[in-house]
Amino acid sequence: MSIEMTRTLEQAWNARLHSGQLERIHESALRLFYGPGEVHPRDPLASWAIDGYGSSLWITEWEGESAPASVEEIRKASEQVYSREGYRGAVVLRRPRQGIPEMPQLLWGEAPPPSFRVVEHADGHVMSFEIQLLEGRHPGLFLDHAPLRRWLCCSGKLAGRRVLNTFAYTGSLSVASWLGGASEVVTLDLSRPTTQWAERNGRMNGIPVERSRYLFGDFFEEVPRLARRGDTFDVVISDPPSFSRGKKRTFSTQKDLVDLHELLFSVLSPGGVLVTSINSANVPWEKYERDVQQAARKLGRKLKLLGRIEQPESFPSHPVNPKSRYLKGFIFQS
Ligand SMILES: C[S@@+](CC[C@H](N)C(=O)[O-])C[C@H]1O[C@@H](n2cnc3c(N)ncnc32)[C@H](O)[C@@H]1O
Repeated sequence: MSIEMTRTLEQAWNARLHSGQLERIHESALRLFYGPGEVHPRDPLASWAIDGYGSSLWITEWEGESAPASVEEIRKASEQVYSREGYRGAVVLRRPRQGIPEMPQLLWGEAPPPSFRVVEHADGHVMSFEIQLLEGRHPGLFLDHAPLRRWLCCSGKLAGRRVLNTFAYTGSLSVASWLGGASEVVTLDLSRPTTQWAERNGRMNGIPVERSRYLFGDFFEEVPRLARRGDTFDVVISDPPSFSRGKKRTFSTQKDLVDLHELLFSVLSPGGVLVTSINSANVPWEKYERDVQQAARKLGRKLKLLGRIEQPESFPSHPVNPKSRYLKGFIFQS
């Protein structure tokens, strides 16, 4: 095992400790190391990330061009650094450059339970989320959206509002909207299992059945259907993957942001709030904003910028690796 690797992981841990991010770590979730943004692209750890979910680690490798650390090196370094901080085991998922990754494997220590709960604290609010580390290819909670969850919970903009959360995955943004005072939350995703997971997360956080709806379907069919019925919302949230193949069409953030936002505006009440986020290093901020403005103009809507969505402190970006700054978003009133 290389001493440099251990040292890099320790430095990342200490940075989070000193900035106060590691409070209540064994009941919550945090990115503990983000290789693409924390080390030079030629560093062997540049293609690795390590997340803590409760007392288990979730370790990801993105297959890249540089000479990455081997799984065995990661096993030794992560066990040495994190077992003394109270972590009981680690699961690893390797993402190939193309195609679907294999299922995650236990790397060291105790296997986590099939599903367990973590909490996220946001200015006095506590959100609970179900996590699964060995059952699928993602734990079920995107840690980079913690700042957006905080905004939804704590900005006061959602009080008494009807919310539509599209591309919702396991519904973490629906939970945050509910805790932010929303009067009703409609949650839409293409995948049936994740929609059911979103429903469990909703129930765990006290969203009453009569104030929530979980729609399982394609955005490009369901949103026009809502618009045809005149079903509009005070807050509309959109967080699509960079590429998706639905029943009717494919979608990519590089080509289709204008179409996407036209549909979002078609179900946004006058004066409503649009929360739009993408996960695409290759779409510049300027083009993204231009595309949203173009869609707004087509529908005769004016935009007022309320805020930007960016990566949290635990996902730093590296100056020589533009891909490490992938998360972007805007909050507009329109
Ligand atoms: C990046 S994730 C969203 C993460 C989520 N906003 C959160 O914070 O947890 C993208 C989601 O979009 C869903 N999705 C992809 N294509 C879709 C489509 N055409 N219609 C509806 N949902 C889609 C996927 O199933 C996935 O759950």
